[in-house]
Amino acid sequence: MLGMSVRHANMSCKVSACLLFSITLFCSMVLMQISVGNALVPEEERALEILRERFDLPVWTGDPCSTVQWITCSSSSVVSQLNLQQRNLVGTIPAEIGEFRSTVELILSVNRLSGPLPDLLNMTVLESLELEENNLTGGIPPAIVNHGSLSMLNLSYNPLGGPIPAITGASGLTTIDLTQTQVTGSILDSFKNLRQLVNLYLGNNPQLNGSVSFLDQLYNLKSFNGSHCGFSGGLPTIQNSGGLELLDLQMNDFSGVIPDVLFAHQSLRTLYLNNNPKLSGGIPVMDLLKGLVDFMIHDCDFSGPLHDGVFAYNLQLEVIGIWNNRFTSFPTDLQALVNLREIDVHSNDIIGGLPELPSAANQTANRVLTRLTFSNNQFNGEIPSSWYKLTNLQGMNLSRNRLSGQLPEQLGDLINLETLDLSNNQFTGNVPGTIALLPKLKLLLLDNNGFTGIPRSLLDREDIKKSYANNPGIRILESNKKSGVPAGIIVGAIIGTCAIIGVLITVFIFYSRKSKRKGGDEISQADMPPSVQSFTRKQIKELTENYKTSVGKGGFGSVYYGKLADGREVAVKVRKADSKQGSAEFLNEVRLLSRLHHRNLVSLVGYCLEANQRMLVYDFMSQGTLEDHLYSKVPVSRDQSTNPEDSSRRKRLPWKTRLSIAIYAAKGLEYLHHDCNPPVIHRDVKSSNILLTRKLIAKVGDLGISKQASDKKDSDEEFNKSGVSTVIKGTFGYMDPEYFTRRRLTTKSDVYSFGMVLLEIITGKRPLTQKFPDSGAGNLREWVRNAVNADQLELVTDPELHGQYDKEVMLKVVQLALSCTHFSSLERPDMREVARSLTQALHMEGDYLDDSGISSALSKTREIVSTSREEEILEARSAHASSSSFSSTAFSYPSRSTETTGIVASQT
Ligand SMILES: *[C@@H]1O[C@H](CO)[C@@H](O)[C@H](O)[C@H]1NC(C)=O
Ligand SMILES: *[C@@H]1O[C@H](CO)[C@@H](O)[C@H](O)[C@H]1NC(C)=O
Ligand SMILES: *[C@@H]1O[C@H](CO)[C@@H](O)[C@H](O)[C@H]1NC(C)=O
Repeated sequence: MLGMSVRHANMSCKVSACLLFSITLFCSMVLMQISVGNALVPEEERALEILRERFDLPVWTGDPCSTVQWITCSSSSVVSQLNLQQRNLVGTIPAEIGEFRSTVELILSVNRLSGPLPDLLNMTVLESLELEENNLTGGIPPAIVNHGSLSMLNLSYNPLGGPIPAITGASGLTTIDLTQTQVTGSILDSFKNLRQLVNLYLGNNPQLNGSVSFLDQLYNLKSFNGSHCGFSGGLPTIQNSGGLELLDLQMNDFSGVIPDVLFAHQSLRTLYLNNNPKLSGGIPVMDLLKGLVDFMIHDCDFSGPLHDGVFAYNLQLEVIGIWNNRFTSFPTDLQALVNLREIDVHSNDIIGGLPELPSAANQTANRVLTRLTFSNNQFNGEIPSSWYKLTNLQGMNLSRNRLSGQLPEQLGDLINLETLDLSNNQFTGNVPGTIALLPKLKLLLLDNNGFTGIPRSLLDREDIKKSYANNPGIRILESNKKSGVPAGIIVGAIIGTCAIIGVLITVFIFYSRKSKRKGGDEISQADMPPSVQSFTRKQIKELTENYKTSVGKGGFGSVYYGKLADGREVAVKVRKADSKQGSAEFLNEVRLLSRLHHRNLVSLVGYCLEANQRMLVYDFMSQGTLEDHLYSKVPVSRDQSTNPEDSSRRKRLPWKTRLSIAIYAAKGLEYLHHDCNPPVIHRDVKSSNILLTRKLIAKVGDLGISKQASDKKDSDEEFNKSGVSTVIKGTFGYMDPEYFTRRRLTTKSDVYSFGMVLLEIITGKRPLTQKFPDSGAGNLREWVRNAVNADQLELVTDPELHGQYDKEVMLKVVQLALSCTHFSSLERPDMREVARSLTQALHMEGDYLDDSGISSALSKTREIVSTSREEEILEARSAHASSSSFSSTAFSYPSRSTETTGIVASQT
């Protein structure tokens, strides 16, 4: 602070007279006086010094409140927050930590701290104690759980051991996390007085046993995780809590039937009762569980029929997992469950037909059916025709049933199918040739059926592992194309094709007339912001040369390349017609993008809204998406200025380029979170929504489900704290678990998703990857974290990088990714910090970003810190300048950096 003031003084002197200099000098002396007067209280300063020495932290000079990054001081110069998470701290927690008597948050998570928990009785205002992922031992002292001011206690992933002490005094605890702490014994009245408790996590403590009837004493419980413990007895009813959202009791020893009261929780979203082999009885119609999303009761001993209407009220259902029970029937129509993603009912005793399922067209972009496992039952009849509209399906397993009939050509419509197991059924007829055209098919099992023919083209596909043994009398069907086609057929074919086109044109004209007459779209031109250009369908047709070049495809529809009259290249996103969801997202995106402008946000050129057609026109991004580049789907390039160098785009991205793309995307999000007022939450950050220009400058796209806090009075901070409770939207794998389980939508949810993108650019693996060679890791984050802990980063970095990165920089980015994806949103950095850390990482690699992209040879004389600061200011200014129609409070920097801003501004 002093240094800055002096610098300021020097600069002013050059410009103005000595009088001014004297005044400034005087002022800085006064400032100095004030800051000395405001220094940290001596006890805390001493305790700080002890922490520094014990943990070998960097030395500071001057007032710690303004120089030590890991503390936050309150206005009365006491430490209000101490955050030393993920700093590789080794050793015990010094008793002097108790000297921080005014600290509200103490965070020492993700280190290697050992020894017993400290005595914190003197920290009388402590609200949040976060010690997870350390090596702390010696049990949980009663004083900690009985600490009067504590609201959040996280001791998870520490080998603490011993029983959970009784909580006797009045307690304000709202969250207790004791996941994997090796606590033992049964819980009787430990939690009796926790009237405020909302979240209780006790999972992965196999030595916890006895009943969970204590849950009935909790009046505000929303989430309980008691999975992988030794709990037994009957299931709890949790009848005193009105707002239960998550109940995870999997892998225990519960017995008996499901109590009616448990199925009366209207807010319950996630229910895991699986792997409790003594749970029995039937499943009633779940008419009260209206919010249920995940329903997992597999590997129990449930039985009886599942009535036709059993899921009729659970319209939010995404996952039905009931395998390995003894159910005898299954509903025949599930078409109303448009959010379904996965059904697994294998190994029951189900007799009857397969259910009708919602077609892909009726599903929303992010929740689509990908996996169906109905094997090992007694299903009969044919595959329902609605199944051939499940174009997102990746796996279908129908083996070991009594299914019959012929497979239709439409099987070829399941273009995403990877595995198809139809073995051990009674299918007949020819295997349709369209199967051979399925681009992603890897495994096809047809054994033990009555198939009579299999196409040669299928047998020729060497990338498909297939077997069709035990189909008596099956013949190979040669394709007739092979032996040259007689001219007559060609002529016939041409005439035929013309006829078909004629019919299509007629149908099209008829249809478009009809839809014009109807004219009843739920959004109209009047809803659209006037500041955005409107195109007619005719104009779109011209500028795309009649939809000549498709440059992308997704759940929403297709994207086409186009060129405006002035030569500007555009991408036209044609949304699928007639889905309500689509209209809402369309309108949302146009409204947001008409007001938000930033160089790292895709820019909307215009839209077309005519009859049932909804199209968005964006600036063309010739290099496709980050996803394309990471997983070598080479984007179709319509880039006219193709030069020989461009063949390099077929190579995977080098590390520095990945880093620069991450920085751009982070800046786009930073703008949404920090510079927009109220802030905008993107909600669907993923590698396929990060688009790239020819120079590989990244822009964040698809704001279809983004959300702006409606209450303009909400400050950034309040918005973060309270969150917005809405229907869950987003993409599985990138979705913030806290948002998912607690429905707390904040800007930190985007930070989580962005962290997953960082993990992708580091590892080259997709977020939903589940198999990791030579590792017991269950998910991508865990895999990376284990590697960091074992100091074997090279095992998880993308092999395509060929080790070409600075190890220190990589570690920094990995740690950033891990903190972004921390389970608790409180632990995640905000996007501004993320953008800053990434920029620093790139500086450490010796590069920086300028307007035209990444630029090597950072001038050694430029100060790294000031460079990034200047860049940020220039950026913020240009963003502000272009956001003329958007009234925002623009870029208000946090108080800590205001001074720096002032100085740079006075320089220019
Ligand atoms: C708490 O404060 C009292 C005096 O205020 C002191 O004697 C005691 O040692 C402190 N305890 C700890 C654990 O710091
Ligand atoms: C945790 O502490 C135990 C001894 O108490 C030690 O053997 C082990 O290596 C420690 N683990 C880590 C990760 O530091
Ligand atoms: C289909 O399910 C059965 C068990 O129900 C299993 O044995 C078989 O491996 C599955 N097929 C595929 C391809 O996963």
